[in-house]
Amino acid sequence: SEILRVGVAGVGTVGAAVARLLKRQAKALASRTGRKIVVTAISARDAGKKRDADLSDVEFFADPVALASSNKIDLFVELIGGAEGAARKSVEVALAAGKPVVTANKALLAAHGLELAALAEKKHVALAFEASVAGGIPIVKTLREGLAGNSIDRVYGVLNGTCNYILSRMELERLSFEECLKEAQRLGYAEADPTFDIGGFDTAHKLAILTSLAFGVTIASEAIDIEGIERVTLADIEAAEELGFRIKLLGVAQRTADGVEQRVHPTMVRKTTSIAQAMGVLNAVTIDADAVRELTLVGPGAGGEATASAVVADIADIAKGVRSAPFGLPTATLEKLKRAPLRQHEGG
Ligand code: HSE
Repeated sequence: SEILRVGVAGVGTVGAAVARLLKRQAKALASRTGRKIVVTAISARDAGKKRDADLSDVEFFADPVALASSNKIDLFVELIGGAEGAARKSVEVALAAGKPVVTANKALLAAHGLELAALAEKKHVALAFEASVAGGIPIVKTLREGLAGNSIDRVYGVLNGTCNYILSRMELERLSFEECLKEAQRLGYAEADPTFDIGGFDTAHKLAILTSLAFGVTIASEAIDIEGIERVTLADIEAAEELGFRIKLLGVAQRTADGVEQRVHPTMVRKTTSIAQAMGVLNAVTIDADAVRELTLVGPGAGGEATASAVVADIADIAKGVRSAPFGLPTATLEKLKRAPLRQHEGG
């Protein structure tokens, strides 16, 4: 059909920006995809809340699961967040009903990505998650489609905007950790529970997704050794600076002789590297691969419009009829693969 009716569950910073962007780019998107893309329904906890988008002509659902299975939408966008509860249930229900799903939910994918991909595969519908890793940077497409002709050795980067914002502000303004965290929350970058950001868990969820895409292995966030930025002090930052380095929270995945090693921890990076240029809410991902050698993408890793940019790209793909295998390989192949992520050993 000509119109693609979109239902959005969760209308916070990102959800409102998705609605705005779809309106603002309506003409361009219609000519790019051949379809008129319209948000026709939303679900949110609070119907009356003031939102940064015009949603007056949109149907309201109190229950995201009811929205997910409603015959009033052709595509379900999940922006609720969290690995369980309403987010998981509604995505499962939408896929089971044969509706394509777009999600920004890294925690959900890290915990249940393969099951959900298998369900999408069985139902022959898309499960798209460009917005789940590194906000506006199209890293999922880059790894899955853009580098299909490469063998990847290593993927690493700054994957959490909140941590990078805090570390950057501490370095540039000599502000305290607490002050910078408050500011990141005020700007809408942080997770509902900021422990996910500063404890390194959000980075680990994103890294697990990148690892699967880059190396064709199962998602295994439980195999990641994680250290957050809570113990990074101004003195550490100054000491690094004197040596020509700065401190970044990095997620790293690399191929080893017997699998793929993944880790998350604060790291001193030389100030002259591409990754070190990403300051503030920016994210950066570097890929080492045989054909392209080294490639770095730098861009906004959090925030409403930047993340909405990735959500809208996925919606546009679906409008065009694109349906990639979510993690690049059939899920049966992923599940059988031997080169599973390893737990890194102490001192290893
Ligand atoms: N809290 C996340 C961040 C949001 O700061 O990067 C984007 O995933």
